[in-house]
Amino acid sequence: MTVLVTGGAGYIGSHTVVELQSAGYEVVVADDLSNAKADVIDRIETITGKRPVFYKIDCADKAALRGVFENHPIDAVIHFAGFKAVGESVQKPLQYYRNNLDSTMTLMEVMEEFDCKKFVFSSSATVYGPNNPYPYKEEMPAIQSSSPYGWTKVMIERILTDYVTAHPDCCAILLRYFNPIGSHESGLLGDDPNGIPNNLMPYIGRVAAGKLEKLTIFGDDYPTPDGTCQRDYLHVVDLAVGHLKALEYAREHEGVEAVNLGTGNGVSVMELVHAFEKANNITLSYVVGPRRDGDLPAFWADASKAQILLGWKATHSVEDMCRSAWDFARNSK
Ligand SMILES: NC(=O)c1ccc[n+]([C@@H]2O[C@H](COP(=O)([O-])OP(=O)(O)OC[C@H]3O[C@@H](n4cnc5c(N)ncnc54)[C@H](O)[C@@H]3O)[C@@H](O)[C@H]2O)c1
Repeated sequence: MTVLVTGGAGYIGSHTVVELQSAGYEVVVADDLSNAKADVIDRIETITGKRPVFYKIDCADKAALRGVFENHPIDAVIHFAGFKAVGESVQKPLQYYRNNLDSTMTLMEVMEEFDCKKFVFSSSATVYGPNNPYPYKEEMPAIQSSSPYGWTKVMIERILTDYVTAHPDCCAILLRYFNPIGSHESGLLGDDPNGIPNNLMPYIGRVAAGKLEKLTIFGDDYPTPDGTCQRDYLHVVDLAVGHLKALEYAREHEGVEAVNLGTGNGVSVMELVHAFEKANNITLSYVVGPRRDGDLPAFWADASKAQILLGWKATHSVEDMCRSAWDFARNSK
């Protein structure tokens, strides 16, 4: 079976390519490298012993995407490609709507041309918006978000749902990720965004490596046990395995399913900072700053549907996540 992985040179995509190849899938990666480095493909080859086919293309480029489908018998698509920085999306909404929506709709049109019916989509817990109580459950309304980035996920979920309603022989799995952190055990793959990281763990990694001076924790006056925000951190390898399970499900089923991928546990920012220090025997420089616009105090997943529907459950501990994140950060240039 051949799987097209868009955004497969990125953080979650590259870990998923490793799991797919290790499970025997043929993998074709399409990534424009707007937020990834080309040597990720070499690293995947080093880990798995097999080089995925790689196209450096923009997924909104229909002719280029057609070329991929003409050259390979694509049976299913896992769609990671997109911009993902929440704060940046508030500054540059048009770029986010253009890239995330155009790439998805172009991809869907080309899939239709080539009769490819299986779609796994990178959605996000952000679709639950500010008003649902946590833990978030899939049946809660997922129709609101607090950033243009989040709205692209809400809209794409809608587009895929409407498409499958019109084409009931297709299958789309909307994977709502919580907060992936950590790295592959080889230390060769990890979260290495271009520019200053927007997410907590790559920022911590750069502070620990001396590349950034100190971490700012945004607010310690939230209504949580230690006053800092609580999130559901999950190991990126667990998340990658979740994609494999979703793909196996999609192969056998039709229709749309939204599925949370999280551990079901809330961990505070302060707890994560201390867990990183303890796991790696490092002292991190940090200061507490004001709250950041748009941050919710706390949320985590009800992860039971993933277990029932896909047979998936997160297995790695916070300590595993912190240790592997540092293994990667201290080796990255
Ligand atoms: N990392 C998270 O915390 C998180 C949480 C929820 C959802 N997601 C979603 O998961 C997906 C992957 O996230 P990630 O953390 O691996 O991000 P990432 O930036 O590391 O990976 C995305 C990849 O897509 C590529 N890309 C972007 N636009 C493209 C386009 N038009 N054509 C081709 N390639 C393009 C980038 O070069 C990058 O390699 C994204 O859709 C993101 O929104 C991520």
